[in-house]
Amino acid sequence: MTHPEYGFAVPFRFPVCFTRAAFARDNTTVADLLRRVEPDRRHRVFAVVDRHVAAGHPSLARDIETYCRAHGESIRLVAAPLVIEGGEAVKNDLAHPLALLERFNELGLDRQSFVLVVGGGALLDMVSFAAAICHRGIRIVRFPTTVLSQGDSGVAVKNGVNLFGKKNFIGTFVPPFAVVNDARFLDTLEYRDVIGGVAEAVKVSLLRDADFFRFIEAHARGLVNRDAATLEYVVRRSAELHLEHICGNGDPFELGSARPLDFGHWAAHKLESLTGHRLRHGEAVAIGMAVDVTYAVRMGLLEPAIADRILSLLEAIGLRLWDEALLDTARGGALAVLDGLREFREHLGGELTVTLVRGIGDSFEVHEIDEVAVRASIADLALRASAAAGASVRTAAAR
Ligand SMILES: NC(=O)c1ccc[n+]([C@@H]2O[C@H](COP(=O)([O-])OP(=O)(O)OC[C@H]3O[C@@H](n4cnc5c(N)ncnc54)[C@H](O)[C@@H]3O)[C@@H](O)[C@H]2O)c1
Ligand SMILES: [Zn+2]
Repeated sequence: MTHPEYGFAVPFRFPVCFTRAAFARDNTTVADLLRRVEPDRRHRVFAVVDRHVAAGHPSLARDIETYCRAHGESIRLVAAPLVIEGGEAVKNDLAHPLALLERFNELGLDRQSFVLVVGGGALLDMVSFAAAICHRGIRIVRFPTTVLSQGDSGVAVKNGVNLFGKKNFIGTFVPPFAVVNDARFLDTLEYRDVIGGVAEAVKVSLLRDADFFRFIEAHARGLVNRDAATLEYVVRRSAELHLEHICGNGDPFELGSARPLDFGHWAAHKLESLTGHRLRHGEAVAIGMAVDVTYAVRMGLLEPAIADRILSLLEAIGLRLWDEALLDTARGGALAVLDGLREFREHLGGELTVTLVRGIGDSFEVHEIDEVAVRASIADLALRASAAAGASVRTAAAR
């Protein structure tokens, strides 16, 4: 017996803008974005700001208020901007999204209201999640303020928070209403977050664009010196490549069992949890990629010379490819990081699918991971890290 089937397709479109000083009075980017729908309406807007961003840009809350007043024909700010904690801690406690929902309720926000969120990837994930579940979806405009979030998470279509010690255990797929990448925010970023964010750019170059990988290789020194123009290009190209993948691969909401953009992430997510988030996401991704690259060599899937080129680039940028948590053990003495494989599969369902690279800009998927070879790869990385440490001691002694 056949049953009738019903279906529909909903097109999503969202602008991703690159600008400087988005809340300068005469910069019309934000006002134009909000006017994109119902241009004659006065839109209700609420803003949430990452505390570290507000500290680095002390006039920010005032600038947002002034901006909304200056564009008062289109924007009505319903309350003073809310400044809250940023960083992974806001994803680790449901009290944060709940407090936000309480505020949305007090302010009477509805589905046509806008929440502007200015902050790092963690705050964007948490606020986007709260907005997504409030009235089943309030419009969100993201202003990512880190290298990682401007080039990756802020332009993507996922949100979420951590639960039961598992990254992004709850969350939804919702494209933002718009994204505004304001390069000025990057000026106040801690150095480790500049470098950590570049790890995701290296990742997407390895998956999709060998020329971009070569660009990063050629400009590694500029990145280490946080040269603004180089950093802006890396952020922009990384965002483009992530967006091309999300919008062009036919599975933006990850209905299949593959997560092609999550190269290096099965170990990375586990390392973030194992270290109690001492490792930031980008830092953990660098180590996760190092594990997978070394593993691919062990399995005869990648030439050692190419692997060395990849690891050397990560090191040249200043990313550490080793953390003691790689040796943490779980019940029965197995390496705890290997639980990351099970959690990775469980997150999507279906069969385990791990993306590896067979060359620069050339990725493929495997459905089985040999855990003995992973152990051996971790031992290889330990050796590489101690050799590198020995070399730096020798260099210092020779000075
Ligand atoms: N949704 C997705 O598709 C996706 C993709 C990749 C990563 N992520 C998530 O993104 C998060 C990591 O984001 P992140 O790397 O931006 O780190 P983060 O948000 O933890 O920010 C790092 C630190 O920098 C501070 N900060 C942010 N912007 C600043 C600025 N301009 N000046 C000074 N300080 C600033 C933050 O308050 C925080 O203390 C992780 O939770 C990760 O899981 C999500
Ligand atoms: Zn990531």
